[in-house]
Amino acid sequence: MHILVVGGGGREHAIIKKLRENPAVTEIYALPGNGGMAGQAKCVPIAATDIDGIVEFARTHPVDYAVVTPDDPLVLGCVDRLNAIGIPCFGPKQNAAMLEGSKAFAKGLMKKYGIPTANYQVFTRLDEALAYLETAPMPTVVKADGLALGKGVLICATRAEAEQAVTDMMVNAKFGASGATVVIEEFLEGPEVSVLAFTDGKTVKPMVSSMDHKRAGDGDTGLNTGGMGTVAPNPYYTPEIAQQCMAEIFLPTIRAMAAEGRPFSGCLYFGLMLTKTGPKVIEYNCRFGDPETQVVLPLLKSDLLTVMQATTNGTLAETPVEFSDQWACCVITASAGYPEHYAKGFPITMTAEAAAHTDVAGAKLADGRLVTAGGRVTGTTAVAGTLAGAIREAYRLANQVEFANAYRRRDIGQRALQALE
Ligand code: AMP
Ligand code: GLY
Repeated sequence: MHILVVGGGGREHAIIKKLRENPAVTEIYALPGNGGMAGQAKCVPIAATDIDGIVEFARTHPVDYAVVTPDDPLVLGCVDRLNAIGIPCFGPKQNAAMLEGSKAFAKGLMKKYGIPTANYQVFTRLDEALAYLETAPMPTVVKADGLALGKGVLICATRAEAEQAVTDMMVNAKFGASGATVVIEEFLEGPEVSVLAFTDGKTVKPMVSSMDHKRAGDGDTGLNTGGMGTVAPNPYYTPEIAQQCMAEIFLPTIRAMAAEGRPFSGCLYFGLMLTKTGPKVIEYNCRFGDPETQVVLPLLKSDLLTVMQATTNGTLAETPVEFSDQWACCVITASAGYPEHYAKGFPITMTAEAAAHTDVAGAKLADGRLVTAGGRVTGTTAVAGTLAGAIREAYRLANQVEFANAYRRRDIGQRALQALE
């Protein structure tokens, strides 16, 4: 079987490795992939946002199934376009990817169907947004409506900060067109949990929960990043909370999307806040998380390709999705300075032992050598019988990944360990 994977980050590397466990998979094309996964996939230099290029490649190559994972191509309708030339895909169609593509759409859906989330208002006019802020409780959260590389969310402690954020988005176009509409919402408090779930539009099967570490610095300080490390499962996510989330959030979301004529198939990512008044949705993503995937998939005991195909075929209800009861930890090694300015082009070295546990993201081959080419460069994952063991082993291996300006948080998993005690 020949599989096309759209994307080129650590998440895609983890997916490709897992797909490779199925002996029926004989070829994987990664568009664009990256130099670090060249051993497991044929990397083709077509950008994940070049939908015409992706479709043309799929039309002229023997592709049996496509896996579309990044947000941009999903929101641009990559799945619809591949389906139109007869290629079955893992991932939602464009009208369902709206769940991530527009925060205003997602909030409207939750309101209409009574799915718990932060209270909010949507604004397309600056004067109305500023007038609302005059009496809004602080802190408050200002979000650009569209995709903004995970950066379009600002937690504002004071009214002045919130006014600045709204002005930056709506007038100064700091996040481009995605900020023309803003969502201003209630600030929620509590532990955050990421739950990725397989769904075929009718049935939803959650994967093991995980905990991301979004801030750049130790102790959750510094700027928001795409994620500096993860652990799974998330100890805050008890079986009781899982049950509550299934009844109040997961199933209602899947049913709401179907009722709206936008059945969602693929992986739906629930970003949850466990507040004092119950679990609430912070955000939906229409795809696997990065680096959540790097800790969740190593714990998946079922065959990934079989489960993915079940989401496409509508047969998820009768397809087992089983996870190991072990723990996993992923430590990202980034370029110092990420998520702002950082230097690139440094040769990367790692031991064979580390390489076997490492997914490569921001790297490319230059004259046959792997060099840094992005902010998050690698993610090193270990699985163990205890959380402490997984963390220890992930760091032992990540410390064997080296390049000139390498930076790692030193406390990935520490908050989860404390929660266990
Ligand atoms: P997002 O890009 O929507 O995942 O938001 C980035 C981060 O901002 C989240 O992971 C939360 O930590 C935080 N955040 C988003 N919305 C809220 C909210 N309503 N209350 C508190 N924190 C939030
Ligand atoms: N790690 C968060 C995300 O993938 O959006």
